[in-house]
Amino acid sequence: MKIKKEYKEITSEILNDENFSKLKEDGHHGSNRYEHCKRVSYMSFLMAKLLKANYKDTAISGLLHDYFHGTTNSNEDISYLTHPITSAKNAKKDFNINKEEEEIIRTHMYHYALVKHTFPFINKREKVTAKDYKPTSKEGYIVCLSDLLVSIFEVLTFKVRYNTCLYFIFLINLMF
Ligand SMILES: [Fe+2]
Ligand SMILES: [Fe+2]
Repeated sequence: MKIKKEYKEITSEILNDENFSKLKEDGHHGSNRYEHCKRVSYMSFLMAKLLKANYKDTAISGLLHDYFHGTTNSNEDISYLTHPITSAKNAKKDFNINKEEEEIIRTHMYHYALVKHTFPFINKREKVTAKDYKPTSKEGYIVCLSDLLVSIFEVLTFKVRYNTCLYFIFLINLMF
């Protein structure tokens, strides 16, 4: 209970912000980006507590790691590799984040950069060296790992829900 209260105190200003709430309009892994960011933030906060890292920085940067408005601002540069830079820029402008938080957001796609480095045929148009996205702090690795784990969880649960719906539609079709 104390942990949840502490987490709320750190994040409530951003969570209740009008611009940040617009992320609810953007679909993400079968849910929306507001929920995705909240999950990554809370997991990063807990992990940082466990690893004695800066839990405030991980909670804030976890919350803002995907802070862009894909559906309401189509002018933003939001590819797999550019959205961390766009998010860091938006977060700095709207929430005046510190240098460490900015760097954590900028490097949160290290997992993707590693995959692309290993399999260069994926998304050939975007060139990247994994080094450019390597986190520079323990907190950076925490947010990157949380993003990866939460994304896997979201995609898997979405698939289960999707397949369950298909199964029910199939059953209903059999009944009529
Ligand atoms: Fe991201
Ligand atoms: Fe993410």
